[in-house]
Amino acid sequence: MENDLDKIILTQEQITKRVAELGEEITKDYQDKQLVVIGILRGAAVFMADLIREVKLPMEIDFMSVSSYGASTKSSGVVRINKDLDSTITDKHVLIVEDIVDTGLTLKYIVENLMSRKPASVRLCTLLDKPSRRAVDVDVHYNGFTIPDEFVVGYGLDYAEIYRNLPYIGVLKPEIYTR
Ligand code: IMP
Ligand code: MG
Repeated sequence: MENDLDKIILTQEQITKRVAELGEEITKDYQDKQLVVIGILRGAAVFMADLIREVKLPMEIDFMSVSSYGASTKSSGVVRINKDLDSTITDKHVLIVEDIVDTGLTLKYIVENLMSRKPASVRLCTLLDKPSRRAVDVDVHYNGFTIPDEFVVGYGLDYAEIYRNLPYIGVLKPEIYTR
């Protein structure tokens, strides 16, 4: 897997440090609030597992799985829910955890869908943000790292479902996803 990477852009140490900072911020912001942290499968699984252990508050966790139709390295904006939440979020404070906000189309759909269930609040926490690719407005409240427009893998992010278990984030060699 390592040989398929051009370069590592975020090391394990950098990620660990930043995740702890985000956890501390979230801990401060959600004191005395009924918090439910919602991970978007599968990309957010690794980040979510580390993040929630840095949030020193009682919380519920839940997961949602969505897929957008279209090519694997591009988002089409047409979103389908493959797995919905198991819990009710009405009157709870929802924190959505995502791996990366790219065009924003997936998140826009998810936020609107969750808002319709009348939660007390909805905020978004993403590990990575690629603002140069944004097609629609999404309000990112907690962002781990802003990255340039390159296709990255590792720490939950995949290409064709592989590389999610790399403990760092790297840029895939273009020949891997163009062949
Ligand atoms: P959006 O709807 O364009 O914001 O797409 C977000 C989803 O596209 C993410 O949850 C990822 O699954 C995927 N994605 C976008 N950019 C990358 C990348 O650089 N590497 C891996 N997956 C990506
Ligand atoms: Mg994803």
